[in-house]
Amino acid sequence: MFLLAHISDIHLSPLPALTLRELISKRITGYINWRSNRKGTMTGGTLDVLTADLKMQHPDHIAVTGDLVNLALDEELETAQRWLKTLGRAEDVSVVPGNHDAYVPGALKKTRRYWEAWMRGDKELAENLPVEFPYLRIRGDVALIGVSSARATAPFMATGDLRSKQAKKLAEILTETGQRGLFRVIMIHHPPVRGAAPSHKRLLGIGLFQRIVRQHGAELVLHGHTHLATRYDIHGPNGAVPVICVPSASQSFGAQKPPAAYNLFSIEKTNAGWSCHMKQRGVVDTQITIQTVHEDQLLSGR
Ligand SMILES: [Fe+2]
Ligand SMILES: [Fe+2]
Repeated sequence: MFLLAHISDIHLSPLPALTLRELISKRITGYINWRSNRKGTMTGGTLDVLTADLKMQHPDHIAVTGDLVNLALDEELETAQRWLKTLGRAEDVSVVPGNHDAYVPGALKKTRRYWEAWMRGDKELAENLPVEFPYLRIRGDVALIGVSSARATAPFMATGDLRSKQAKKLAEILTETGQRGLFRVIMIHHPPVRGAAPSHKRLLGIGLFQRIVRQHGAELVLHGHTHLATRYDIHGPNGAVPVICVPSASQSFGAQKPPAAYNLFSIEKTNAGWSCHMKQRGVVDTQITIQTVHEDQLLSGR
């Protein structure tokens, strides 16, 4: 049995002080947004308690699907690097970037540099190559495939995209890992489902993503971005492929969005095929008590 944990949208706080130069950019809107919406409701206390509970489950691997920071300032990227080190060894934690990690032009390049160890595929690590998306990490019978939908956008926009270069490589990886009989997990920040996010926050390339999954197959898709606990299904060649989102790992109880949670997937190869059971553990009160709040049998023998 392989135990995979999923957390997302860390939005590490507090924000460092901004220089005037840093404010004169898209960051001014993000800063105002953070001051009015996130400051106070997305606190480190919640995140610390949640991750302590996660570690007590001793997962084999942790998937982090983006938005580790808020405005992609150098100081934030460095703080996030330190936080990742506390979460687990780089070979046991896989990260894909979110729109907040690529907040302004040039930021994604820095993000890749700071978080390289957590975003390097097996091949890139073995051959000492730079990070390339989608990356592939194989742990036991599980193939972890990290797609980057992150890009800098205009103010008030938070779209992401999947372009043909990544799509082509994603199709190849899915085919290869499918032939090897692995349990394929795709990690992507933006939801690859129509209507899951409002238009100005959506993924551009949903049709392309779903076409690839329909043709080449996958067993599980993990995403973040909406800060909601949702399950969608998209068509695969052998039936429905579950698409799962988890609330922000920093969201305090009683805010507009659901409180912080993480998901645990128990993945097992049975005689009948793959079995995948999901358990969600989350904050249930203002004292930051963590409990199992939801369970779902996603796959049973396929
Ligand atoms: Fe987010
Ligand atoms: Fe996001």
